[in-house]
Amino acid sequence: MPLTLKRPELSRTHNFIAGEWRDAVDGARYPVSDPASGVEFTSVPDSSEADARAATDAAHAAFDGWRERTARERAQFLKRWHAAIVANTEDLARIISREQGKPLAEARGEVAYGASYVEWFAEEAVRSYGDMLPALMPGKRMMAVKEPVGVVAAITPWNFPLAMIARKIAPALAAGCTVVAKPAEDTPLTALALARLAEEAGLPAGVLNVVSASREHTPATVSNWLADSRVRKITFTGSTPVGKHLARESAGTLKKLSLELGGNAPFIIFDDADLDAAVDGLMASKFRNGGQTCVCPNRIYVQNSVYDAFARKLVERVSALRVGPATRDDSQIGPMINARAVDKIERHVQDALAHGAVVLTGGRRLQGDGLDGPYYYAPTVLGDANRDMALFHEETFGPVAPLFRFESDADVLREANDTPFGLAAYFYSNDVRRIWRVAGRLESGVIGINEGAVASEAAPFGGVKESGYGREGSRYGLDDYQHIKYLCQGGLV
Ligand code: SIN
Repeated sequence: MPLTLKRPELSRTHNFIAGEWRDAVDGARYPVSDPASGVEFTSVPDSSEADARAATDAAHAAFDGWRERTARERAQFLKRWHAAIVANTEDLARIISREQGKPLAEARGEVAYGASYVEWFAEEAVRSYGDMLPALMPGKRMMAVKEPVGVVAAITPWNFPLAMIARKIAPALAAGCTVVAKPAEDTPLTALALARLAEEAGLPAGVLNVVSASREHTPATVSNWLADSRVRKITFTGSTPVGKHLARESAGTLKKLSLELGGNAPFIIFDDADLDAAVDGLMASKFRNGGQTCVCPNRIYVQNSVYDAFARKLVERVSALRVGPATRDDSQIGPMINARAVDKIERHVQDALAHGAVVLTGGRRLQGDGLDGPYYYAPTVLGDANRDMALFHEETFGPVAPLFRFESDADVLREANDTPFGLAAYFYSNDVRRIWRVAGRLESGVIGINEGAVASEAAPFGGVKESGYGREGSRYGLDDYQHIKYLCQGGLV
């Protein structure tokens, strides 16, 4: 089925380099498939080194002109881009849904979420202050000013094809940087549509460049940026092993890095919690995007005395979730992104069963019955999970909620922190002393306290430990695209 849009020109199938829509230098293309059916519906350039270099040339050439614009001018561009994204919500949601598989209603939410970062950084652009420093010697004035780092390479994931790239590009442009971006192999079309809207909003040529590449060609494209000293910053959202690789490989030119990597979020329900609120929070955070987010709870800890009551309430809600094609208005859980994703979910569930878990609902692939492909997995609750299971150690990245029992606060804190990751953590309690103690002890960059929906453009998003470093969103988000320059003026006596 072709992708039907109100504005067909938003379906772009060429790289965007130096303000031009280009084929890959060698003409190579790769197919883009609908994750529901696995059927190819279009193709995009399969870029390689020459295309990556052309994008860097363009971004490098555009940098001086862009940084010299006033912050107000850059903000105005971002406001026009924001308005264009919002005005084209329906088409963008259709593109997201088609290439990524999330239900349309959720894709519309993602457009609003991504757009909120563009608006936020339009507002932040004009509030990027430096400091006048107390001069400790007579006749001197000392200042710290913020400057754009330079050309930024943004490498983005498939789970939020719009929001993740928007929250990298918007602060970069606000700070005065220019960008070369490579969207995930599975989801290039949303990024290219965003580039089209940026073009319509009047962004000067070369300030934003987007190149697509298949899984096979991605290493060559990205390596080019890692080695090129003109690229001053890499911002990446994706897996921890790839993040470590980027850190190692970019060391040769000592680039600034923002790495938003994997998580293994604990979600703790203490015995004094409001169980209905905890179920609501878990539904919102665990089943968002079919469980395919880095901040999805991966290990759900329930205190013994409320375990059975919580499990009953949760199973009732999870078994009522509607699984269906992304295009159906009433679908709540769409297909997983690809065969690898659904294979991993299945492997985790089988491994958990082999180690003593019980299926409370779900626990199987879904096929037929109005479902249009092989990548659906039933929303699942597993009881009696334990730390011998693979899902204790690794992100499942799917609609599986394993329940672990715990006895004391000390036990659960030890277990929750017993992971190399530290992106998000959640807990429910109504005891104010416990709240502050637990919030202080959880090793995590983002903490939801009696709240499952933590994402916001006004908040600093990012991890600790092997979940990475750098922050996206909030007033801190601009820092990642700036460096501080110290100016010292003498001879003023
Ligand atoms: C992610 O999954 O990486 C991001 C999720 C979010 O922005 O809430």
